[in-house]
Amino acid sequence: MDLFEYQARDLFEAHGVPVLAGIVAHTPEEAKAAAEKIGGVVVVKAQVKVGGRGKAGGVKVAKSADEAFQYATDILGMDIKGHTVHQVMIAQGADIAEEYYFSILLDRANRNYLALCSVEGGVEIEQLAEERPEALAKIAIDPGKGVDAAKAAEIVEAAGFEADVREGIINTIVKLWDVFTAEDTTLVEVNPLVKTGDGTIIALDGKVTIDENAAFRHEDHAELEDKESADPLEAKAKAAGLNYVKLDGEVGIIGNGAGLVMSTLDVVAYAGEKHGDAAPANFLDIGGGASAEIMAAGLDVILNDDQVKSVFVNVFGGITACDAVANGIVSALKILGDEANKPLVVRLDGNNVEEGRRILSDANHPLVTLAQTMDEGADKAAELAFSAR
Ligand SMILES: Nc1ncnc2c1ncn2[C@@H]1O[C@H](COP(=O)(O)OP(=O)(O)O)[C@@H](O)[C@H]1O
Ligand SMILES: [Mg+2]
Repeated sequence: MDLFEYQARDLFEAHGVPVLAGIVAHTPEEAKAAAEKIGGVVVVKAQVKVGGRGKAGGVKVAKSADEAFQYATDILGMDIKGHTVHQVMIAQGADIAEEYYFSILLDRANRNYLALCSVEGGVEIEQLAEERPEALAKIAIDPGKGVDAAKAAEIVEAAGFEADVREGIINTIVKLWDVFTAEDTTLVEVNPLVKTGDGTIIALDGKVTIDENAAFRHEDHAELEDKESADPLEAKAKAAGLNYVKLDGEVGIIGNGAGLVMSTLDVVAYAGEKHGDAAPANFLDIGGGASAEIMAAGLDVILNDDQVKSVFVNVFGGITACDAVANGIVSALKILGDEANKPLVVRLDGNNVEEGRRILSDANHPLVTLAQTMDEGADKAAELAFSAR
């Protein structure tokens, strides 16, 4: 999960990284009040999870609270690279003398962490990496050792900082490493990290990516979620603990296990070629325990997607045997009642498959068709989706 700049700023502050005052505002009135509270020159900054806000006109220096009101009016509602601005941050204005770049990220390929650092910050780092790669220091971080003052000094040395800022940068890097590890992130980026006119070091922009696999360790991270922009079906699936990804097609897919769901997507897309290019509408993995509740929650999410015209349930019975899955489907359809209104093709295989198929045959639900094989099921589901157009 990527954070907004203001959320990154708050995390930085909590870990002692030097930042300037910043207050989030949702209306021009709130922006004006925030500017009055901070006082002096402020910067009105669009809060969207995409870089290059400055270039896109989403970062404006305001010399008075009235100017902050005006800029907030302009920036709120603005579209920046497909992201609508719902909030701005009113930040204390900095007297910038130098702009640097610093980040720590998870380097999956090398099973390591990596620090990137440059005395030429402010610009887009991809551009710098391409045009002047020698200006970007890359220092591997041993996950077992982390970043202490000595390691930070190595980074500072490699990037070629002037002597007067070294100590300040070293202290900041050590604190950013604390943010990186204590908050379980996969990216902490500061661009720009600045030196002000009086020589102080400040993190002026922050980008943080939280590792959601560590959510169990961070109850407080739940409130960082951006509920306003979340797809309502994805939010519903998440609340039910389901692994759901919305796609563009018309055939809803439910399976157990990521591998099976992934191959189901392929088989449906292939079958769809014969049926007007009907394609998968989603990826939904109900995981190991296909209980009635989980099946109902999964069907509920998929049937509420208007784009879905048919559903293919493809389950391989393992620890949860096919009879339990079949009972789950039958009860799910009972729970959903009239909300279940699209044809379902069910293919079961694996543990206790005969009993599972018998339960579904006996239930004789008008919406359910049983398929013997995965190919047959995919073909049927694609055909049903096509004919429902
Ligand atoms: N609080 C601030 N005070 C003064 N200048 C700022 C402030 N915040 C940002 N800037 C200037 O605006 C530029 C872009 O802002 P930044 O927060 O980095 O947004 P983005 O990276 O999305 O363009 C910075 O490089 C800096 O020059
Ligand atoms: Mg920036």
